[in-house]
Amino acid sequence: MAKVIQAIRGMNDCAPAESPLWQWVEGQVKQVLASYGYSEVRMPIVESTPLFARAIGEVTDVVSKEMYTFWDNDEQLTLRPEGTAGCVRAAIEHGWIYNNEQRLWYMGPMFRHERPQKGRYRQFHQAGVEVFGIANPEIDAELIILTARLWKALGIDQHVSLQLNSIGSLEARANYRSALVAFLENHQDLMSDEEKERLVKNPLRILDTKNQALQEVLNDAPKLLDYLDEESRTHFATLCQLLDDMGIAYEVNPKLVRGLDYYNKTVFEWVTSALGAQGTVCGGGRYDGLVEQLGGHAAPGVGFAMGLERLVLLVQEVNAAVPVANTVDVYLVYSGEGATLNAFQLAETIRSALPQVRVMTHCSGGKFQKQFKRADKVDAKLALVIGESEVAEKTVVVKDLRSSAEQVTISQADIIETLTKHF
Ligand code: HAM
Repeated sequence: MAKVIQAIRGMNDCAPAESPLWQWVEGQVKQVLASYGYSEVRMPIVESTPLFARAIGEVTDVVSKEMYTFWDNDEQLTLRPEGTAGCVRAAIEHGWIYNNEQRLWYMGPMFRHERPQKGRYRQFHQAGVEVFGIANPEIDAELIILTARLWKALGIDQHVSLQLNSIGSLEARANYRSALVAFLENHQDLMSDEEKERLVKNPLRILDTKNQALQEVLNDAPKLLDYLDEESRTHFATLCQLLDDMGIAYEVNPKLVRGLDYYNKTVFEWVTSALGAQGTVCGGGRYDGLVEQLGGHAAPGVGFAMGLERLVLLVQEVNAAVPVANTVDVYLVYSGEGATLNAFQLAETIRSALPQVRVMTHCSGGKFQKQFKRADKVDAKLALVIGESEVAEKTVVVKDLRSSAEQVTISQADIIETLTKHF
């Protein structure tokens, strides 16, 4: 036998038994976004490498270690590790930002060369939202209110909580960075080599370290919130007040800095303890400098993205009331002279009149008994049986596969009326 080729590590197939749950989760996301008036955009999966380097930041883990990059002749390209950079690129390119304020969403695969584990993959899927042109904290609040509504729709609202922080202006962050580095330099004995490297390149990322000893020391470190500029402080206070008034619970986490460089002011994450180490189901924040940094006219931006694998896992874990299987309503069983064509025609008649009914025709021959076994296997509710006499008499046998009721023979002309009683 030929050697079997397997999927790439960390890149998963979605099996037929899993797709109903995925479709349901994606459907809830789309419905909530539509109810806030957001529009879908679709960007390419591949972009030029400098886009990500400039937007996300050279020293971030994503850009320095995790990107899938390759040469296409003399151009360096990267499989998108996230959606914000591409969305901003597209918005500048097509002038989406300047016509009007824009509220956009996208959904699709992202690629990061991380060590795979439960909830962390090399190809994963995000649903993301980006809003351009609104500087006011009301839009930050809207995004958070929108996600809270989505958690309710998915039945996971009791299992996620909101972490919130403000990382201020570039200048405020630079001041804070100096203060933090001065503080941490005295504690280098507690640091791994990687943390020492971070101290030089990206010291704010040390704030979310998993190193226990360092975490304890960090409790006495200078706080970013104390270094905020006046405007960021007011912005954050207004946002917190709005969330309080809207009854959205949150925890201000001064150590929350996020792993991508483009943020300023508001940052937030929705986290769960139900998924083990990979507990962040959604993360985002404001990026008021990014449009200009990527060559557009200055325009504020804010957004977030959620990991669909993590949402699907969480729904599976905590919400039993979701669709779990593809089901077939009607299975066509047929055999004999003229039966194939008759079954095909009858199936098409049903699909035209009752598009919501799922109709499957057998298509693989064999005795009636084998065909009924197949109908059972796909868990069909009804079998419609056509043999030579049914073809001749233009009738069809209707057999309820979920009850012991006697089968009945009806005229094919009455099929829609009969099925309407069942579905
Ligand atoms: P991020 O925090 O890098 O932000 O990713 C957002 C979410 O994607 C995470 O919270 C997580 O649920 C999911 N995710 C990330 N990496 C993986 C992975 N390897 N496997 C499975 N799920 C993963 C961004 O990507 C920003 N672009 C969000 C944003 C939009 N900020 C402003 N606008």
